[in-house]
Amino acid sequence: MTLHTSAWYATGPAKWPQQTLRGHTIPGYRYTSKAFAAQEWEKVWTKVWLLLGREDEIPEAGDYQMEEVGPESFIMVRQHDGAIKAYYNVCLHRGARLIFNEVGTADAFTCPYHGWRWEIDGSLTHAQDAEDFPEGDPCGKLTLTEIRCETFAGFVWVNMDPDCVSLREYLGPVWGDWQPYQIHTWKRYLALTANVPVNWKVILDNFNESYHLPAVHPQADATVEENYRWTQFDMADEGHNRMWMQSGSPSHRLIGSGQPLIKPALEGALRAWELDPADFEGREFETREALQQAKRRLGPARGYTYFNDLRDHQLTDTYHYFLFPNFAVSIWAEGFHFLRARPHPTDPEQCVFDNWWYAPAPEGVTTPVMTAAGPVERDAEVEHVVFNFGEQSLGEPIDQDMAVTPGQQLGFRSRAYKGVYLAKQEHRIRRFHEVIDDYIEGRRPAPRRSEAIAAE
Ligand code: FES
Ligand SMILES: [Fe+2]
Repeated sequence: MTLHTSAWYATGPAKWPQQTLRGHTIPGYRYTSKAFAAQEWEKVWTKVWLLLGREDEIPEAGDYQMEEVGPESFIMVRQHDGAIKAYYNVCLHRGARLIFNEVGTADAFTCPYHGWRWEIDGSLTHAQDAEDFPEGDPCGKLTLTEIRCETFAGFVWVNMDPDCVSLREYLGPVWGDWQPYQIHTWKRYLALTANVPVNWKVILDNFNESYHLPAVHPQADATVEENYRWTQFDMADEGHNRMWMQSGSPSHRLIGSGQPLIKPALEGALRAWELDPADFEGREFETREALQQAKRRLGPARGYTYFNDLRDHQLTDTYHYFLFPNFAVSIWAEGFHFLRARPHPTDPEQCVFDNWWYAPAPEGVTTPVMTAAGPVERDAEVEHVVFNFGEQSLGEPIDQDMAVTPGQQLGFRSRAYKGVYLAKQEHRIRRFHEVIDDYIEGRRPAPRRSEAIAAE
């Protein structure tokens, strides 16, 4: 049997810069205290780029999307010139929310309370009894409060801070990593949103480590190298994290387990790319490279034209990104598991968790998309379903993740919990909390080193 060699291991991405961690103990009040949540809101959430809408859901002028983050609600609306603008979803007369539906099309936003008419460019064109206002007719004077809005990977990102850096600068090396996948052309195939009784950081902590895999996901399909010794962990200057797990070959965990190295999921992946699992008997760890070659050879003709732009490791491997502060995603050549947590408007012990899935929809590909909640037909109309934790499944692996989180939230209230005792492979959690503290203390990440790498 051929085991990994250093050359084999080297066929991955360049490392991001090393970070010096300060040794945060992550005390429980960070997950339970209203005072801490208020600090986070003022110093973190209102200063960062937030991934919200999707460009292709608002293709025409007047098409809009509304999304909520904590106490705020944002409208993202397509303009007549094709640009997208984002506003706080609040009427400047006496504060009423303008819209409550997630998506729609409007000539203008007419406030449900007194009928003020806000055009999609934010201007006010009608106010009842305009002559009755001592400070003058509000039309021509007031405009909806606009926030910074940019797009990347087909998503609409907003930032409440007028002095923020560009989205490109904020994302640092993630920008370059994601470019070749052409994620802006991918479609959403799963949209499950659950109200979960935990602090939003509990969700992101979980997606910032893979140490829980053997205990929480014992069924792991063994096409992904889950052993931390073979995994690359990166922490960007900008506060984002990356984990690279080689895939398309057996996990080193299986060696000596008595189980076959090539399990059904890997067999299926090989057959899907015209490879015969039997050919790899005795050289099971060569399947990754064979899959890369097969995808390189067959992918473009099957409609995956962007495979031409992916590096070999991107054709097979699993990348897990954490984008500060609240977005985690697993990305493969053929899929994107979207994991986002948003804070509850008032209660630090609750959050909104989005378990979504995107995948390419190349012409001619008819095989279903394998999402975290099972297969979905390529031409399916995917409904956004919102429910309370426990009312409905989020798909097996995510149900497993979520099942352990409420117990941890309870533990954070215990006098016995004094802080974490972290393995090195969990250091991205520590980094996450230290970057939160950086923002709270008024320090912004310096992007220069990661920028340089992204430019390579
Ligand atoms: S609050 Fe909107 S018109 Fe009065
Ligand atoms: Fe998990």
